[in-house]
Amino acid sequence: MKLLLTILAGITILGTKSTTLVIDARQGNEAQIVYYGSTVCPDDINGLAAAGYRGNSLYPAFGLKGADETAISVVQPDGSLTLDLKVSEVITEKWEGGQTVTVISKDPVYPISVKNVFKSYYEQDIIETWAEIGNEGRKPVTLTKYFSGHMPVHTGNVWLSSIYGTWANEGRVCQEPLTRGIKLIKNLDGVRNSHTAHAEAMISLDGKPQENSGRVIGLALEWGGNYELRFQTDDSDYHHVLAGICPENAPYTLAKGEIFTTPALAYSFSQEGLSGISRNFHKWGRKYRLAHGDRERKVLLNSWEGVYFNINEAGMDQMMGDIASMGGELFVMDDGWFGEKYPRKDDTTSLGDWKVDREKLPGGIASLVQMADRHGIRFGIWIEPEMTNSVSELYEAHPDWVLKAPGRDNVYGRGGTQLVLDMSNPAVQDFVFGVVDNLMTENPSIDYIKWDSNMNIRAYGSQYLKNQAHLEIEYWRGFAKTCDRIRAKYPDLTIQACASGGGRANWGVLPWFDEFWTSDNTDALQRIHMQWGTSYFFPAIAMAAHISAAPNHTVHRITSIKYRCDVASSGRLGMEIQPKNMTEFEKDFCRRVINDYKSIRPLVQFGDIYRIVSPFDGQGFASMMYVAPEKDKAVYYWWKLANFHDEHFARAVFAGLSPNRQYTIHELNRIDAMPLQCEGKTFSGRFLMENGLDLPKSNYPANREQSDWSSRVLLLTAL
Ligand code: DGJ
Repeated sequence: MKLLLTILAGITILGTKSTTLVIDARQGNEAQIVYYGSTVCPDDINGLAAAGYRGNSLYPAFGLKGADETAISVVQPDGSLTLDLKVSEVITEKWEGGQTVTVISKDPVYPISVKNVFKSYYEQDIIETWAEIGNEGRKPVTLTKYFSGHMPVHTGNVWLSSIYGTWANEGRVCQEPLTRGIKLIKNLDGVRNSHTAHAEAMISLDGKPQENSGRVIGLALEWGGNYELRFQTDDSDYHHVLAGICPENAPYTLAKGEIFTTPALAYSFSQEGLSGISRNFHKWGRKYRLAHGDRERKVLLNSWEGVYFNINEAGMDQMMGDIASMGGELFVMDDGWFGEKYPRKDDTTSLGDWKVDREKLPGGIASLVQMADRHGIRFGIWIEPEMTNSVSELYEAHPDWVLKAPGRDNVYGRGGTQLVLDMSNPAVQDFVFGVVDNLMTENPSIDYIKWDSNMNIRAYGSQYLKNQAHLEIEYWRGFAKTCDRIRAKYPDLTIQACASGGGRANWGVLPWFDEFWTSDNTDALQRIHMQWGTSYFFPAIAMAAHISAAPNHTVHRITSIKYRCDVASSGRLGMEIQPKNMTEFEKDFCRRVINDYKSIRPLVQFGDIYRIVSPFDGQGFASMMYVAPEKDKAVYYWWKLANFHDEHFARAVFAGLSPNRQYTIHELNRIDAMPLQCEGKTFSGRFLMENGLDLPKSNYPANREQSDWSSRVLLLTAL
């Protein structure tokens, strides 16, 4: 690894494989970001000023600079709102994956210091930044804004791609030019921060965003709580990108001697379009963030859409037998298995009472684990440990454990009785740890936990904290401590982050989790859109995608089994269905799909993503692929998005292949009676990328059950 780090008269250069960040941190001056982009050689760095690269404040502070947007603002003990950050020292260090640069600034008048840390991940082209704000005085200082970082982006034909949505419609892509004013993306849910807007975005520097070309900066805030991403375009030549915890309703009192560390903000730069940024984040995420990012995921059946709350032993046994017979490797029993005094029959009771409902499951969890064993699969279980219902033994024993403003009534969520537990309270942290610990101690062979979270913070108050303004931050600190304890004791357990679907797809949460439930909406057509946007920052290995029933339970659309399988098998494949309601043909088809998926699992879960035709572009179909890092194998997905007669699509072109290698085509998940014309044929990577194939617009199944939903999955193997 060649480390690009030179310090020339206060200029600090932090390099990754293909990018350079240039910081001007001369002692006594305000630190500035001068350049972030493709690799620049040291000679050209000396010429940056002559090329018109002007420094922009690295961490702009409020109070002495007029109307500029700021990353930090404080109220000093004497009431002054000013902060002046002047560089006192720059420390550079190496770590095994790259290097860190710490710019230490101090206020010449007030005893406040700020460390802005930049950490490079050389191979993955990622640079993280965060701030450590220290109160070195004797009196408390109030932080009214404490973002993680500021990135200046030169004006031009600059476009923003952001990800928005809602419950059951996560991961939508919005693309728009950055124009005058402020584009503000924020989330105030408190618990689930990626339903309505994601804490990640991409900035395309060369006009309308392209998947596989153009310079792009990507950014991801690693924080599961409330956040803001601000894109300010003013009368300067720069857009100002600021990101961090949303400080609204959360001024933070920094005690004497205390250091406040902001969450990390991860940046990447790529010249290979939006997909290039995705590849960087996926590689970095799998290696450094996602729990077990190097371990293949099992094919599973989750019970939720199959039986909802109607859990019973015979039913679980039947589902386990069915998924085992289709080649699945894991069964997950969802909501509805617990509650003694208040059995969980629907969503109005029992959260917190994590004791088996013996009426439904006389043999307890132990007998389910044995059942799974008999079927040759593993067993997983659903919990929602941060929550309770007012109708529960837990709430009866500990009404002081729920979030509630002092002197006010509860504000309920799901089922009219749900309440959020106060994760800032150490007693609650012990309890939540105990939920997992008890389950695992009693049933050590539980393989998988689905950790759900179905309510936002409504009653803004802690019965434990003295300073209510710290609630949002202390909730997440408590969550982190609890998850650390769980992971220390159960490092091998697979844990899914579910939060009413995709409410916790965030790099701040995933270090403790192996994957997330992408959405409660399992409709294949809508999933193509949702998985597309979610894949901007999150790899397929983390994106749970399940084959479900038709008509779909959320949108009631009827799609073919092939289409549902082809969409789910582009993510972490699973099933979310009552198998006993499937036809023998469907079961048999799924058996083949699961078998095919196992052969491409390393490609899907560890391969490099190349999105090609976006479902948001109105071309009638969408396509994408995963390519092995060695480029000797690739899998290509093509999904038709609507069915009209007399349609004429573009040829199916490929991406990411080695131009000079020959690839043989083989159709997976095949339903058609006749093989494709290209089946078994060999083409050069160059031909496939430049000219592509003309794929039939419809499937022609052997059973003649044609449907209006068509799709293809092609495996490309290099000779
Ligand atoms: C919300 C989740 O997103 C669903 O998958 C399911 O687990 C339900 N909660 C159970 O209540």
